[in-house]
Amino acid sequence: MNRISVNQPIVELDGDEMAHTMWTLVRDRLITPHVDVPILRFDLSLPNRERTGDKVTLQAAEAVAEHRVGVKCSTITPDAARAAEYGLSRLWPSPNGTLRNVLNGVIFREPVIIDSVPRLVPGWTKPIVIARHAHADQYKAVNFAVPGAGRLTLTYTPDDGSPATSHDVTTFPECGGVALGMYNYTDSIRDFARACFARGLKLGYPVYFSSKNTVLKAYDGHFKDVFDSVYAEEFRSRYQAAGLFYEHRLIDDMVASALKWEGGYVWACKNYDGDVQSDIVAQGFGSPGLMTSVLTTPDGSIQLTEAAHGTIARHHRRREAGEMTSTNPIATIFAWTRGLAHRAALDRNAALADFTVELERATVGTVEQGTMTADLARLVPTGASTVTTEGFIQAVADRFAAAPAGGKMRRLDGHGSE
Ligand SMILES: NC(=O)c1ccc[n+]([C@@H]2O[C@H](COP(=O)([O-])OP(=O)(O)OC[C@H]3O[C@@H](n4cnc5c(N)ncnc54)[C@H](O)[C@@H]3O)[C@@H](O)[C@H]2O)c1
Repeated sequence: MNRISVNQPIVELDGDEMAHTMWTLVRDRLITPHVDVPILRFDLSLPNRERTGDKVTLQAAEAVAEHRVGVKCSTITPDAARAAEYGLSRLWPSPNGTLRNVLNGVIFREPVIIDSVPRLVPGWTKPIVIARHAHADQYKAVNFAVPGAGRLTLTYTPDDGSPATSHDVTTFPECGGVALGMYNYTDSIRDFARACFARGLKLGYPVYFSSKNTVLKAYDGHFKDVFDSVYAEEFRSRYQAAGLFYEHRLIDDMVASALKWEGGYVWACKNYDGDVQSDIVAQGFGSPGLMTSVLTTPDGSIQLTEAAHGTIARHHRRREAGEMTSTNPIATIFAWTRGLAHRAALDRNAALADFTVELERATVGTVEQGTMTADLARLVPTGASTVTTEGFIQAVADRFAAAPAGGKMRRLDGHGSE
């Protein structure tokens, strides 16, 4: 069979445990038999991060920045227990955090929708794409316990020598309490807004940004103002031409609306909101095995795709003990197809774009025809046949091989036929 020729490389970031097992199976059985693409491989498994003093993560990030397309397997973010398990010299940082910082990227979480798999929220018939502003706020805040009575102030001292301004926060009574000092940067908010609007345009989705600007008038008000100005100055005309829109909503109103709406939008969340909402949305769509994740730069030109789930350590241990598992590889398959679709869009490679659409269709079709992994079979009322991970990947390969060659959808931008 002729393989599709791709001249420009993609960067592969391999990872750990069960995610690595699925990664290898998907690459070797579904991707490389059909696509002849130069793959620059970086081994981000925890043992290799330890061996290289985590230099491999930086090298991988630089390669993604250079070649603009990366596909990433899930990796362990070590805690004390992992450090003991792997004999680490230190707690290496989260590779995703390093990649996000080097690429100055925003992460979008997007579910794969399969009509025949019931969702916890049945009304969600289209993807809800969650964007989390993964910078500062609570995650870089100074917080401390206040032991007793005293005054709390916040002081800003300008670098230009002009007078400092001080704000009284509260006067604590004898019982003391807790306090928090939190911040964000205008440039970071602006880049986040740009990335969200660029993603909305690419997917053909409207964008909502949620905040609590009625309470945090200056803090969240600034976020809202930045979103408004980026939209007005850089995106409004393109959104109107595409029949799309942008709206700010209060977070409480947005949460309630999201439950009622069918999906089909980008939800730009502040850092903490995104942390919470991405897990609610992942659960609402059924299984972590259906949730993909894309890290993009503010201008959308660089993309790093991955499955949103972790390394699924529990299944890995069962495999090590000689058992087979029925772990869902769909998000891994989509990490590869979405990465290759970006390569196809950059290179205007129609054959590669067709391949990504066809492979996604074969994957979804396999589930719809009744063959699925255990996590999905649990959700389907009747008639599902549960297969192992290998069995599912083979079923997708068979379905793909049997698909008619003609009538393929073109996907040079966005997600084509979905
Ligand atoms: N993007 C990443 O690289 C990433 C993200 C999250 C966690 N992690 C890492 O993964 C490791 C394990 O984390 P965890 O156990 O909290 O999360 P996890 O996502 O690996 O697994 C949690 C549970 O979700 C279910 N699950 C997840 N993916 C599934 C799939 N594809 N098919 C079927 N069931 C699935 C399983 O029941 C599993 O036990 C940790 O070391 C963590 O640091 C990495």
